[in-house]
Amino acid sequence: MAPPPVALITGANGEIGRSLLERLHADGRYRVVTLDLTPLPERFRPMCHETYAGNILDRYLLDQLAAHHEIEVVFHLAALLSTRGERDPDLAHQINVEGTLHLMRMAQQQSARLGRPVRFILPSSIAVYGLPSLDEKAAHPRVTEGQFLEPITMYGCNKLYCEHLGRYFMRHYRSVGPVAANARLDFRALRFPGLISADTVPSGGTSDYGPEMIHHAAQGKPYACFVGPEARLPFMAMPDAVRALLQLLDAPAEALTLPSYNVGAFSLSAQEFAERVKRAFPGADISFAPDAGRARIVDSWPGDVDDARARADWGWAPAYGLDRAFDEYLVPAVRTRYQG
Ligand SMILES: NC(=O)c1ccc[n+]([C@@H]2O[C@H](COP(=O)([O-])OP(=O)(O)OC[C@H]3O[C@@H](n4cnc5c(N)ncnc54)[C@H](O)[C@@H]3O)[C@@H](O)[C@H]2O)c1
Repeated sequence: MAPPPVALITGANGEIGRSLLERLHADGRYRVVTLDLTPLPERFRPMCHETYAGNILDRYLLDQLAAHHEIEVVFHLAALLSTRGERDPDLAHQINVEGTLHLMRMAQQQSARLGRPVRFILPSSIAVYGLPSLDEKAAHPRVTEGQFLEPITMYGCNKLYCEHLGRYFMRHYRSVGPVAANARLDFRALRFPGLISADTVPSGGTSDYGPEMIHHAAQGKPYACFVGPEARLPFMAMPDAVRALLQLLDAPAEALTLPSYNVGAFSLSAQEFAERVKRAFPGADISFAPDAGRARIVDSWPGDVDDARARADWGWAPAYGLDRAFDEYLVPAVRTRYQG
C-alpha cells in the first residue's frame, strides 16, 4: 500500500499549527512535514514525518524540502501577526509577503513536477478589512468579502496582497509560456476572525484580549484589557478553525467561487466577553485600559462577518456558537489546564 501523501505545515509551532498537527495526526491521512523558526516541542515530534527548524525566507531550505518530499498539500501558517507587524512593518512584509511568495513558487513548481495541483491553504484574516469609522462599523454589522478592503495595518495589507498572489498563481501564472491547469497550484484562503484556544495563549495579535482575559481569569491573575468595553469583534473557537481549514481543503474545486472566504462563529463586545468570563470565574479581576494604537486597529475591523458564501459553497457551519464555545470548550478546558 502506498504511504499517505505529504502535507507541509509552515508555522507549525504556533497556536493554529499545533492544533492542526494534532488533528492531522489523529486522522492519519497525511505524513506531516513541519517548518517553523522555533523547534517543535518534544511531544509533537512523533506526530510528524519530518520536522525542520528554519526560516521560510530561506529559499535554499525550501528547495531542499521540495526535493526530499512530494508535497501534495501546504498549510502556510507562518506569519508575523498584526500587533507585532505594526512594530516592525518591514519585517512583517518580508515574512508575510516574500515568505509567502517563496512558498507559492515552491508549491507551483511542485505541482508542475507531480502533474497535479498542490492544494495551498492560506489562513487570511479579518485584518484585510478597514472600516473607516465606528459609524460605518455600526452601519455594516456583517461585512461581505468584497466590502471595505482598505486595511490600516501592514499585516492586513500583507494578507490581502497574498490572497491576490494566490489567485494569480492559480489562474494567471505563465512562467515562460502557458502552464497546464494540472501544473498550477490550487489556492484556497479563508479569513479567520480572532481565534480562541484553550491550550495556548496567543501573542502578537490584536484580538488577543479575548483569549488573554479567560486565561488570566482561570489563573486568578488580574487583566487590563487593551481595548474599551464597546469594542466588538468576531471570534471563533480553535476546534472550529481547524475544522474550517480541513473542510476548505476537502471542498471540490468546482464548488469554489471565491479565492478567499469569510468564516464566522460568534461576535461579542469586550464588555460582553468580560461578563462571560466572570460568569465562569466569579472572582475575575478585569479592567479596561485601552491602548490607543491597538484599539484603533480593532475599531477598523468588522464587528462580524457574513459567511454565506462559505456556507453555500463548501458547507461551512461552526460547531461552536457563543454558548457552546464557552460552556463546553473554553471554560472546562482552561479550568482543567490551570486548576487541575
Ligand atoms: N490566531 C488568530 O487569531 C488568527 C486569526 C486570523 C489569521 N491567523 C493566521 O493564521 C496563521 C497562524 O496563526 P497563529 O495564531 O498560529 O500564529 P502564531 O504566531 O501562534 O504562529 C506563527 C508561527 O509562525 C512561525 N514563524 C514566524 N515567522 C517565521 C518564519 N520566517 N519562518 C518560519 N516560521 C515562522 C512562528 O515561529 C510561529 O510558531 C497566521 O498566518 C495568521 O496570520 C491567525
